[in-house]
Amino acid sequence: MEKMSLTTSGTFGDVKVKNRIFMAPLTRMRAGNDGVPGELAAEYYSQRAGAGLIISEAVQISEHGKGYPATPGIYSDAQRDAWRKITDAVHAAGGVIFLQLWHVGRISHTSLHPKEGLPVAPSAIKPSGQVYTAAWALEDYETPREMSLSEIDALRQSYVHAAKQAKLAGFDGVELHAANGYLLDQFLQNGSNHRTDAYGGSVENRCKLVLEILNDIIPVWGSGRVGIRLSPYGEFNDMKDSDPVGLFAYLIEKLNPLNLSYLHLIEPRATSAGGSDQIAEGAPSTGKLFGKSFKGPVVLAGGFNKENATAAIEQGEADAIAFGRIFISNPDLPKRLAHDLPLTPYDRATFYGGSAKGYTDYPLAD
Ligand SMILES: Cc1cc2nc3c(=O)[nH]c(=O)nc-3n(C[C@H](O)[C@H](O)[C@H](O)COP(=O)(O)O)c2cc1C
Repeated sequence: MEKMSLTTSGTFGDVKVKNRIFMAPLTRMRAGNDGVPGELAAEYYSQRAGAGLIISEAVQISEHGKGYPATPGIYSDAQRDAWRKITDAVHAAGGVIFLQLWHVGRISHTSLHPKEGLPVAPSAIKPSGQVYTAAWALEDYETPREMSLSEIDALRQSYVHAAKQAKLAGFDGVELHAANGYLLDQFLQNGSNHRTDAYGGSVENRCKLVLEILNDIIPVWGSGRVGIRLSPYGEFNDMKDSDPVGLFAYLIEKLNPLNLSYLHLIEPRATSAGGSDQIAEGAPSTGKLFGKSFKGPVVLAGGFNKENATAAIEQGEADAIAFGRIFISNPDLPKRLAHDLPLTPYDRATFYGGSAKGYTDYPLAD
C-alpha cells in the first residue's frame, strides 16, 4: 500500500480531495455590514484552491449569531448570491469548499444585532474578556440572556435554513462550528451551561443540541457532506468543563453512527485566534486522545508545520491537517509544502478587517 502523505488524495465522506492540506476556517472581518461577503473574497478563496479542502471563515446563520463587526452571513438571499460568486471562482480554480456554520452565542454584543437585543446563551453567564462592538470599540462582554426552549427550536430552524442557503450558494458541504467557545460549545461545556432542563446537566443533555442540529442538517446535505469542528481543552472565549475527556469521548462516540464527512479537532497547543504563537507545554493532544475513537476521517488543526503535519499523517493520527495562519500568508501553501519552498511569514496586523493588504496580496512562490 502507498504510504500516506500530505499530498496523497483521499475521500472524506462523499467528498474527494486532491491532498490532505486543508485550509482552516479563518475569520477575516472584511464583509459588508449587511453580512454580504466582500468583493475581494472570491479572489482570496480562489487563490487558495490548491487546498484539498477549503473550510470557509465562520459564517453566521442568523443576525443574532453575529459576534464581530464585518463577518459574513448566509441567511439572506443577498449573502447567498454573493457566496455563489465565491464558490464559482473556487470551483473554476479546481478547489473544493465547505461553509462553516456559526452562531456565536454569548461572544457578541447588542450593537451587532440591535433588533435582537442581548446576546443569547445556554445560561446567563457573562464571559470574561472584551468584545468588539459594531463601531470596533472594545467593551466588556454583556451578560447574555438564557435561551428559552422555543428559541432553541427556532435556532434549529435557522441552522436548517442556513444549510439550505449554503447548498444554493454552491458549496460542496458544511462544517458545523461547535468549537472555540461559540454557542454550540457553550452548550457542550458545563462552565457555560448551567441549565436544568433537557439541554443541561448531564453530558448527554449538554450534547443534545449539537446532535439534534447534525440530524437536522444531514437531510439537507447527506451525511457525507457534513463535518463538525470541536475544540476539547480549548480555553479560548472563557471555556471550561469539569470533565473534558468524558464529555468529548461521549460526543465522539455519538458521532460515529452519523457517518459524517469528517471530524475536525483543534489542538489546544496553539491559540485559536492567532493571539500568540506560543505552544502550551504539556497540553494534551486532542488527536491522540480522541482521534482514534472516531471511525471516520479525522482532520487536525492547531500549530502544524510541514514536519509535525507529515508525522501526524504518516502515523495515522490524522487523515488531513488544516492550516490556519500560514495559509493566510501562503496562498499556494500546498505547493510550497510539497516542494519544500520557503514560507512567507504572516502579518497579524492585517488578520482582521481592512481590504486587500494582508488578504489578497500575499505572493505566490516563483
Ligand atoms: C485570523 C484567524 C481567524 C480564525 N477564524 C476562525 C473561524 O472563523 N472559525 C474557526 O473555527 N476557527 C478560526 N480560527 C482558528 C483557526 O481555524 C485554527 O484553528 C488556528 O489558527 C490554529 O491553526 P494554525 O496554528 O495553523 O494557525 C481563526 C484563527 C485565526 C488566526
